[in-house]
Amino acid sequence: MGATLQALIYCRDPEAYRARLERLGSPARLLCAGSPEEAAQLAPSADVLFSWHFPPELYASARRLRWVQAMGAGVDDIVAAPALDRAVWVTRIVDQFGGMIAEYVFSELLARVRDHAALRLAQAQRSWKPFKAGTLAGATIGIAGLGSIGGEIVRKARAFDQRVYGLSRTARAYELVDRGFGQDEWLPFVRDLDVLVLALPLTPATEGVVGARVLEAMRPKSLLVNVGRGRLVREVELVRALQERKLSGAILDVFEEEPLPAESPLWTLPGVTVTPHVSGPSIVDQVAQFFHENLQRFAEGRTLQGMVDRAAGY
Ligand code: GLV
Repeated sequence: MGATLQALIYCRDPEAYRARLERLGSPARLLCAGSPEEAAQLAPSADVLFSWHFPPELYASARRLRWVQAMGAGVDDIVAAPALDRAVWVTRIVDQFGGMIAEYVFSELLARVRDHAALRLAQAQRSWKPFKAGTLAGATIGIAGLGSIGGEIVRKARAFDQRVYGLSRTARAYELVDRGFGQDEWLPFVRDLDVLVLALPLTPATEGVVGARVLEAMRPKSLLVNVGRGRLVREVELVRALQERKLSGAILDVFEEEPLPAESPLWTLPGVTVTPHVSGPSIVDQVAQFFHENLQRFAEGRTLQGMVDRAAGY
């Protein structure tokens, strides 16, 4: 490998990752940047980048760069960066976020069927008003994207006795679900769903897949849940569909633009829950452990985990 391997850590709090990686015994010299200015200085010295939302224009000066490890599951911003040399490997974190994202989905769905908002309000008003709750059992949930995150949502849906449909690029994943659909079968996929969950990566093939046509094919009582990326959905068309009651509501953790602009109608549309991209938090120790193992593989010339197919975009 010649000169010492140098890995640049870039995120809001790079020192937390450095401390953890040093405790694990890093095979690389670790450099830290917590701002675009620091990253601009250090990018030319990095063989490896371990980062979240690295400023894409800085890839042009990262002439030694051979590998980028994303700190999250989604790599849409990295693979779309024109300045990132095609020969640079990209890896993403796999098998870490599914559990918490699935908890997010079902906590929000349960809060609706059990009407937590009404219960809390009644308690605050010391008002004893019994009502009959709904149930998740027996409903049909459709999960678009059956990777490690979608797969965990399927597993938890089964624990709630739901019928589970799935849409995936690869037919191999259909064995996870009661009915599988291909990427050109959106309309038959959504037609009978009570809940549609988006757990897809954002790629040129998935950008804007949920627009007026798909939303109109959904049942007026159904709900859309997006834990993937905002740009999977055409937001203007979603707003219109919600206003016209083409579907009953949406639970949205991701948006075309983040933070969601204060003037967005989504904040106040009836039936819409807005959360600030919190469904699958990165846990420093776990993400650092994933990178550490990959860094050892890299230093030893072994295959990396979570390798991204840059042409497919994930
Ligand atoms: C978060 O959005 C991630 O991609 O991990």
